[in-house]
Amino acid sequence: MTTPFKNGFAPVNEEITAFDLDVTGRIPAELNGRYLRNGPNPLSLDDPSAAHLFFGEGMVHGVRLRDGRAEWYRNRWVRSAHVAERLGEEPRPGPVHAGMDFAANTHVIGLGGRTFATVEAGALPYELGYELDTIGACDFDGGLSGGFAAHTHLDPVTGELHALAYFFGWDHHQHLVLDPKGVVRRVTDIPVPDQPMVHDFALTERFVVIYDLPVTFSMPHAERGDRLPYAWNDDHPARIGLLSRESGDLRWVDAPPCWVFHTLNAYDDGDQVVVDVVSYPKMFVDARLDLGGAPTLDRWRIDLTTGRVGRARLDDRAQEFPRMDERRTGRPYRYGYTAATRELFDVVGGVRGGELEDLPDGAFDNTLIKHDLRRGTQEARQLGRGAYVGEPVFVGAGEAEDDGYVLAFVNNPARGAADLVILSAQDFTGEPVATVHLPARVPLGFHGSWIAD
Ligand SMILES: [Fe+2]
Repeated sequence: MTTPFKNGFAPVNEEITAFDLDVTGRIPAELNGRYLRNGPNPLSLDDPSAAHLFFGEGMVHGVRLRDGRAEWYRNRWVRSAHVAERLGEEPRPGPVHAGMDFAANTHVIGLGGRTFATVEAGALPYELGYELDTIGACDFDGGLSGGFAAHTHLDPVTGELHALAYFFGWDHHQHLVLDPKGVVRRVTDIPVPDQPMVHDFALTERFVVIYDLPVTFSMPHAERGDRLPYAWNDDHPARIGLLSRESGDLRWVDAPPCWVFHTLNAYDDGDQVVVDVVSYPKMFVDARLDLGGAPTLDRWRIDLTTGRVGRARLDDRAQEFPRMDERRTGRPYRYGYTAATRELFDVVGGVRGGELEDLPDGAFDNTLIKHDLRRGTQEARQLGRGAYVGEPVFVGAGEAEDDGYVLAFVNNPARGAADLVILSAQDFTGEPVATVHLPARVPLGFHGSWIAD
């Protein structure tokens, strides 16, 4: 069996608890909380879950910072019933949607003092304890009629958490709004044909922006036994949905065919809606996790008068994992942060045995990028071969948009272990503010959060 879980994605096989970690530099005293990151980590490379990047059992890596110290590092598998059984533990009680019990592996978020590992396509999130122990699967006290979503967006003004759920058994997507206590306050079904995949969406002050793109559930691929039977579908027109947050009215506009995993941010601009995304020309051709071309950072301008979507390229360097100052989610903003990680694209391209030719040169193998979207400039911080740099998470400190820190796990090949690197966002290419030396490797993964205490 070929596996994508090699090089940067090679799993770790034990759970570690370490206290009082070594630090180079000084951890800012205002960083009190946990930096958590989720990712797929198969229990064994012999398992079927090791055959597809999206199906490795979720493992959350966390570092707790307090009073200028790195108090602990922990990594824990999310205990689905299967994981609990394999680890010789009792299963946690909890709901299951449509038999899809899965160790959520895509994101980890905080909401109202609780911690959730999330995943999409029908499975429920798992609630975790402060020290990453698994509490159980969660349907928000029956508030979910199906699964949830990997990506959510928190409105920093209203405190509402928005999510967009999808499931191959539904003829609609489901837009969900949760209050800060984790109570589902609003559910809106959005009819869509062909059961498209939806990994992310966008939020502005006025709209929920839905990407209905040509990757749809494929029964032939399901019957063929594909683990992820979603495929590029030329017969499914690309469009963007604008769901009014006030009236609930929904409007669709035609869009150029492409694929988007991730939103950087979006905002209203008079008669236009601006949406910044990492965009691929194609994806999942013949249901393969196949890049179909390098991703670029693009800006869509949706004209509400004409219904036209203009596209501009903000950066053509292959990059992913866009993040920004989430105090500005849905509002005009200036700065974004992304990662250009060659191993990510190699592994994905490598699923069909080849490596992509059209990636940027070696100088950008492992790079974090700060984008100044107002000036149209970038600062690139290179991290070297084998750094397997992951998603850059911004943590605000002062009022100014980039007054804060950027946190990312960076592998240190010399030590055979990872560092948590804490950069000053305003001194992006300077010495890190602090580097926390972890006792073990942290595989490349997906998404994470800073969850302040
Ligand atoms: Fe994602």
